[in-house]
Amino acid sequence: MPGPAPLAADSIAEPGAVSDEQLREANERLVLASVTAQTMAEAAERAADQLREANENLVVATVNAQTMAQVAAEAAAHISYTANLEAQLLEAQKLETLGVLAGGVAHDFNNLLTAILGNANLGTMSAEEGRDVTPYFEAIEKAAMRAASLTRQLLAYAGTGKPVMAEVDFGIVAMEAIQVFTASLPRNVALHSDLAEGLPLVHGDATQIFQVLMNLITNAAEACPAGVVGRITIRTREETVDEAALGTGHWVLPLTPGRYASLEVADTGEGMTPELVKRAFEPFFTTKFTGRGLGLAAVMGIIRSHGGGLWVGSEPDGGSSFKIFMPALAGSAGTPPAESLPPVWRGEGQILVVDDELTVSTVARSMAEHFGFSVLEARDGLEAVELFRLHHGELAMVLMDLIMPGMDGQQAFREMRKIDRSVPVVLSSGYNVSNTDLFVEGLAGLLKKPYRLAEFQEALQRALAMRPSPG
Ligand SMILES: Nc1ncnc2c1ncn2[C@@H]1O[C@H](COP(=O)(O)OP(=O)(O)OP(=O)(O)O)[C@@H](O)[C@H]1O
Ligand SMILES: [Mg+2]
Repeated sequence: MPGPAPLAADSIAEPGAVSDEQLREANERLVLASVTAQTMAEAAERAADQLREANENLVVATVNAQTMAQVAAEAAAHISYTANLEAQLLEAQKLETLGVLAGGVAHDFNNLLTAILGNANLGTMSAEEGRDVTPYFEAIEKAAMRAASLTRQLLAYAGTGKPVMAEVDFGIVAMEAIQVFTASLPRNVALHSDLAEGLPLVHGDATQIFQVLMNLITNAAEACPAGVVGRITIRTREETVDEAALGTGHWVLPLTPGRYASLEVADTGEGMTPELVKRAFEPFFTTKFTGRGLGLAAVMGIIRSHGGGLWVGSEPDGGSSFKIFMPALAGSAGTPPAESLPPVWRGEGQILVVDDELTVSTVARSMAEHFGFSVLEARDGLEAVELFRLHHGELAMVLMDLIMPGMDGQQAFREMRKIDRSVPVVLSSGYNVSNTDLFVEGLAGLLKKPYRLAEFQEALQRALAMRPSPG
């Protein structure tokens, strides 16, 4: 057993001679030492606790750090997934556009080839008769030029698919879109153009801008209720956008104030609520039974990649307007020549086309169909009168060649008048005719061959205006 705590040497006189004083002192020291030891043990334990806690915290922090890294990785993956999705959307749209374009090109090509064929045919006839063939060659040249530009468009699109940045005239893209889509819109929808003169050029990819227009025109047509006359207007303007303008309407992609060229597609369709406008540009958002909700997402992607602005104005039952803005470059496009404007008039109903020359009647048919009519065809006067007898109730008008073997146009016209006087009849001829008697008898017009689309349209419009209004 250990003895008491050692005392000072001078205080040890002899064993057993320990004073009470010394004993008490030793005892006190012993108590103090044991208290100190206990305090130290407790402190050590606390330190160990703290260490454990710190360790736990460290583990939690490590786990947290790992989780955060994972979350960050997921966010990055999501961002790249979204970006990828956007790219896929554009790719899907591109394929679809290619399909629509190819369909449109095929359709337009057919019209153009028919015109080329018809004009070549009429030219040959004229040459044989020793008449001037220049107008036919001019018409053929124009048709071929247009066909070439359609081919270029398709090739450019099917090529890299990357934006082909160049100086773009909104007006020209608008005219091209009108030309391609007029024929495929529903009958109750009319497409109008309101194109500014001297519009500044912009920097962009014409085919992608065409794609934007295609989506906007398609949506506008789909927004027009069936059975009601709808109107779509494509408008171009030069505009100075200021703070005030930026405060009005819904800016999907806002701009900085400045000078811009704008391209607008406005419709008189069903319009949208403010909530719908906000959601309309989300990928896969659609309110249509067969819609895929990709049109406006692609529009936004394209305009954003062009650094342009996008504005929407819409009201339920008040129609919609989608407007894109791109910075105006210095200088402007030449004023589009009035004659290069495609016809945008549309009619409806059935036309009886009578001509013994297949190529000529095919030209007439394609022109009539271009304006939205359906066509019945007859090869001579007798057949024409028979068809007229059966179908006069459904006919909007008759377009008939004057000179045909067997019963000619004049005789057939007189037979038709006996059956139904309300159906306008226009006679066409390659010769100069001035038979005023026929007009006295109610002829609705004479159309001189060869005719261009504009003359054809004028003759049809004038004849249809002569129809007695129903009731
Ligand atoms: N001109 C418009 N008038 C009224 N609503 C419109 C118009 N344009 C778009 N919308 C609304 O925005 C929605 C999204 O349009 P978006 O073009 O993205 O897809 P979609 O037309 O439904 O389908 P998709 O274009 O893929 O065939 C439409 O379903 C429609 O509700
Ligand atoms: Mg759409």
